[in-house]
Amino acid sequence: MENVLLPPLGFAAAWRDAARDLLAREIPPEQVHWQCEGDAPGLELFGASVVSKAADGPEIRLPRALLGLIGDVLCANVPVRFSMAYRIVWRAQRERHLLGDASDPDIAWLQVLSKLVHRDQHKMKAFVRFCEEQGSGARRAFTAWFEPDHFIVEATAPFFARRFGDMDWRIETPRGCAVCTGGALHFGPGIAKPVALADPTEELWRTYYTNIFNPARLKVKAMQSEMPKKYWKNLPEADLIPKLIASAEQRVIAMREAEATQPALRSLRMEPYERPVAIAAEMTPDRESLDTQIAGCTRCPLHCNATQAVRGEGPDRAAIMVVGEQPGDREDLAGRAFVGPAGRELDAAFMAAEVPRGGVYLTNAVKHFKHTVRGKRRLHERPGRSEIETCRWWLGQEVALARPKIIVALGATAAYALTGNGKAVTARQGQVEPSLFGSPVLITGHPAAILRVPDPALAERLRSELAAALRTARQSV
Ligand code: URA
Repeated sequence: MENVLLPPLGFAAAWRDAARDLLAREIPPEQVHWQCEGDAPGLELFGASVVSKAADGPEIRLPRALLGLIGDVLCANVPVRFSMAYRIVWRAQRERHLLGDASDPDIAWLQVLSKLVHRDQHKMKAFVRFCEEQGSGARRAFTAWFEPDHFIVEATAPFFARRFGDMDWRIETPRGCAVCTGGALHFGPGIAKPVALADPTEELWRTYYTNIFNPARLKVKAMQSEMPKKYWKNLPEADLIPKLIASAEQRVIAMREAEATQPALRSLRMEPYERPVAIAAEMTPDRESLDTQIAGCTRCPLHCNATQAVRGEGPDRAAIMVVGEQPGDREDLAGRAFVGPAGRELDAAFMAAEVPRGGVYLTNAVKHFKHTVRGKRRLHERPGRSEIETCRWWLGQEVALARPKIIVALGATAAYALTGNGKAVTARQGQVEPSLFGSPVLITGHPAAILRVPDPALAERLRSELAAALRTARQSV
């Protein structure tokens, strides 16, 4: 009979070494007696060997999934965990499809225990409550007490080390302690529950818990299965739970009866931006008033740094509408869309597609030039989502006025403004998508992209794609 005594810390690695040695010597499972130091006494009397070094035997090959299950089961709080794990490994060497046989009692056992260990690890991740230690070091230090059902401390501690890498912490449990100092993880033996320290953050945590508790979504059974009562004794918020459950119904009634809350005072600061919307909302889109409204737009802060709003141009009614991103430096100064370098590329594409620019309603998704000033230069900055969304209101008015049969979106900003879909346009190029305003949208690249690519062949390809999109638009109306 082989007797193997494993240490209480590092037992999984020691078991692996021992198993490798036993397998190399072809010792069958029934001839091995496993024991972990600190488990039931007695084995030492028979002169058990503590296996700590890997044997130089042949490499043991096991399916990755089986290795994972064995790793879990070694942490399970059942006395036979080491012998069963060895038996399964022994069998897996001889039965290639063992893991696939769900009816095999060893495999069923393995899977049940793995689930229990995983659940325990999940609870440890969810219910460890750190309490700050008073210290003078450069790093903040925290301690937590937890009572796991299984021997999971060593396997679960790396999760906390990753998550709380910027602090020192210790998690004490009766089944081992984990200590992380300066990012280095160490383990020590289990201890009895220490006297609870006074925790000044506890009250904060309880207030937080009370506030996130949503009485309208209360499901007591689901809650108790997620947060079993056995964990309550170490959770500072636990004593609040019965009261919160008892008062939930009343609170839901009160919530239903309460008037809608008023906006916070800080919202008043946004009022100046909102005033023009109110005016515009009453407007039926006639071109003159639309242009005047756009010219005076202060709906978002972009108007503060731009010279002027650049409105759309073209006939009041147009079968084709073309939408760019926002005015550039030249456009901002001239007050006209697409009159700079990108405009020259666009003009060339109009020519190639035989689409007269003057017959198209040409506008931008955002009406003011967004930029940063660097020295004497004003550098283009891409408009953000909220600016696009604020300006979308004007775009809707323009579509309602021009009633285009098709809209060509030049680039990502226009595509997002028109469709509400912010996905990259590369995969959508040439696609016709429904717009938020009724007319279909043909997605294509922005002419400024042609100016940015260093490769002349690629620039040529982008040019012909843009012309092709405009040609498709002409042919579809
Ligand atoms: N880029 C645009 O998107 N619009 C313009 O008006 C000019 C450059």
